[in-house]
Amino acid sequence: MSEDRLSVYEAIRLRRDVRAEFTGAPVDEATLWRILDAAHRAPSVGNSQPWDFVVVRDPATLRRFAEHVADKRVEFHDALPPERAATFQPIKIEGIVESGTGIVVSYDHDRGGPQVLGRATVPETGVYSAVLAIQNLWLAATAEGIGVGWVSFYDPAFLADLVGLPPGIRPVAWLCVGPVHEFQTVPDLERFGWRTGRPLSEAVHRETFGGTGFSDEPPMSAATDATTAP
Ligand SMILES: Cc1cc2nc3c(=O)[nH]c(=O)nc-3n(C[C@H](O)[C@H](O)[C@H](O)COP(=O)(O)O)c2cc1C
Repeated sequence: MSEDRLSVYEAIRLRRDVRAEFTGAPVDEATLWRILDAAHRAPSVGNSQPWDFVVVRDPATLRRFAEHVADKRVEFHDALPPERAATFQPIKIEGIVESGTGIVVSYDHDRGGPQVLGRATVPETGVYSAVLAIQNLWLAATAEGIGVGWVSFYDPAFLADLVGLPPGIRPVAWLCVGPVHEFQTVPDLERFGWRTGRPLSEAVHRETFGGTGFSDEPPMSAATDATTAP
C-alpha cells in the first residue's frame, strides 16, 4: 500500500458526489480493479455477495444512458412547483459521458440460495449489502483521487435492458467514475440551495428515538480528525 494514500477518515471527509469535476481522462485499469476489489470486500448478509459490477465504456452506451437520464431530469423538473424548479434548474445531476466510465451495480436476490443467513426477517438486507459495496467503492475511489457520482434518475427496466441484466437481477446504481480536477468541499445540493445537511447532534438520540440527545456536538477526538488521523 503506497504511503501517499489517504487514511479512511480523510477519505470519508473528502468524498463527494461528483458531477462537474471529471477531467475527461479515463480511470486506468489497475486503479479500476483496486476500487472494484474494495467494493467486493464489503460485508454482505449471509456472505451472499449479491452484487455484480458492469463496467460500461462504450461511448454509444454512455450517450444513450445520458439521454435517458436527461429525459427523467425534465420529468422531475416539470413536476416541481415553480420556486423549486428554479432552484433545481442549474443543478447538474450526472456526469455520465464526461466521466468516461459507468459502473452499473446490480443486485441478485437469488444469490446465496433460498436460506440466506440473516435475511429471513429483513429481506432488504440483501440490497443493503449491495449498497455497502458501493460505499466501499466510493471511499476507495476517493483515496485514489477518483471521483464517483451516483445517478438514480432512470427507469430500472431501461437500465437493465441497456446493459443486459438477466431477468430477476435489478440495477441498484449507475456510478460515474473518473479522475477529477478537485473534490468540492461542500455538497452541490448545499451550494445550489436545494437542501442543506443537519448536524450530527440532531441525528443522535439517547436511549429512544426522540429522546434528548446531545445538546452540542461532542468535540472531535483525534481519531476522527482528518488532519491528525494516522
Ligand atoms: C442512493 C443515492 C442516489 C443518488 N442519486 C443521485 C442522482 O441521481 N443525481 C445526483 O446528482 N446525485 C445523486 N446522489 C448524490 C446525492 O445528491 C449526494 O450524495 C448528497 O447531495 C450529498 O452530497 P455528497 O455525496 O457530495 O456529500 C445520490 C446519492 C445516493 C446515496
